[in-house]
Amino acid sequence: MVFLKAANSEITERPPVWMMRQAGRFMKEYWDIKNKYSFLEMCKTPEIAADVTMLPIDLLDVDAAILFSDILVTAEAMGGQLSFEAGVGPLFANPVKNESDIDNLLIDGTEERLNYVAEAIKVIQQRLNGTKPLIGFAGAPFTVMSYLIEGGSSKDFKKTKLFIHNHPHLAHKLLQKIADVTVAYLNMQIAAGINALQLFDSWALALSWDDYNEFSHQYNKYIISKLNRKGIPVISFCKGSSVFAPLMAEANPDVISVDWNADLLTIKKSLPANIAVQGNLDPFLLYADKKLIKDRIHRLFDRMKGTPGFIFNLGHGIMPDIPFDNVKFAIDTVKEYRY
Ligand code: CP3
Repeated sequence: MVFLKAANSEITERPPVWMMRQAGRFMKEYWDIKNKYSFLEMCKTPEIAADVTMLPIDLLDVDAAILFSDILVTAEAMGGQLSFEAGVGPLFANPVKNESDIDNLLIDGTEERLNYVAEAIKVIQQRLNGTKPLIGFAGAPFTVMSYLIEGGSSKDFKKTKLFIHNHPHLAHKLLQKIADVTVAYLNMQIAAGINALQLFDSWALALSWDDYNEFSHQYNKYIISKLNRKGIPVISFCKGSSVFAPLMAEANPDVISVDWNADLLTIKKSLPANIAVQGNLDPFLLYADKKLIKDRIHRLFDRMKGTPGFIFNLGHGIMPDIPFDNVKFAIDTVKEYRY
């Protein structure tokens, strides 16, 4: 399978393609399901999670499926009162403000409470029937912590930064708790049968180099070191990867997923040869006209030509109002390409 080959740094005849947020609101078929259930109901009902996971396989023929879930389910299983409000995004009704809030978050029982994900993985693998690999995932501790502290999404991560700067020992206590839950959760996904894993540290971009090292990288490294990898490729993603790639490499992932700021070949050449790269088209390009989409994809591929270990993706997720037709066109462009 072309995705697993590239993730294992082997040469492929074209780059494999999947897209972050490939199952979502840019698809009419997603809304057909979403109009009937809440987002968390969709995540927690294995048959529905499987239906949504399969949409981009059936409609876009991408080279890998990604489990339909969310990075915040770990925080919910720890006791975060999570809801998703239309137009607002995720909200935690009980944000973390002090040490007792951290002490109240649970580690015991989280694996059982997340068992619906293992069930979903089994249903999805039956549907995929070996035709395409399934990517499992979790949120990285720093990014998950930022939602717990902010109580939702944030533009500047002010509360999170005040917390790590004013109460570093509490931040470490919280990060370690999330990291331990995440290790068990990802090992559960491996046991349930996923074929690759991605760790999403979407908001690492907010951090300075030193803070990234102390409050993010150390925990991602810890998690990756504790996985029962069994040859399953581990992808490390963050926004900020153009800068943080050397530290990300130190955590020993198989693939680094790169945001759209950097020249991808320059990043690839700076990494140990056994680390593949994934990326890195600016998702906003998918709003542009098709000629430009094709030109920019070909420009990236011509640059990466002859480099083993390259998976095509966006530098971040598909936005909900990107035209479906443009997403399909981009994926077809990749699938028609030959080095
Ligand atoms: O990639 C996929 O298609 C698989 C499913 C997936 C979702 N979220 C579904 C989702 C994955 C891999 C995620 C990861 C996720 N969730 C991240 C990391 C990736 C990234 O984009 O940086 C983050 C930061 C979250 C947290 C989150 N979940 C936010 C900020 C939001 C609301 C904003 C938004 O885009 O709507 C969600 C909700 C969410 N997660 C939706 C989906 C399809 C939308 C729910 C809806 O239909 O209203």
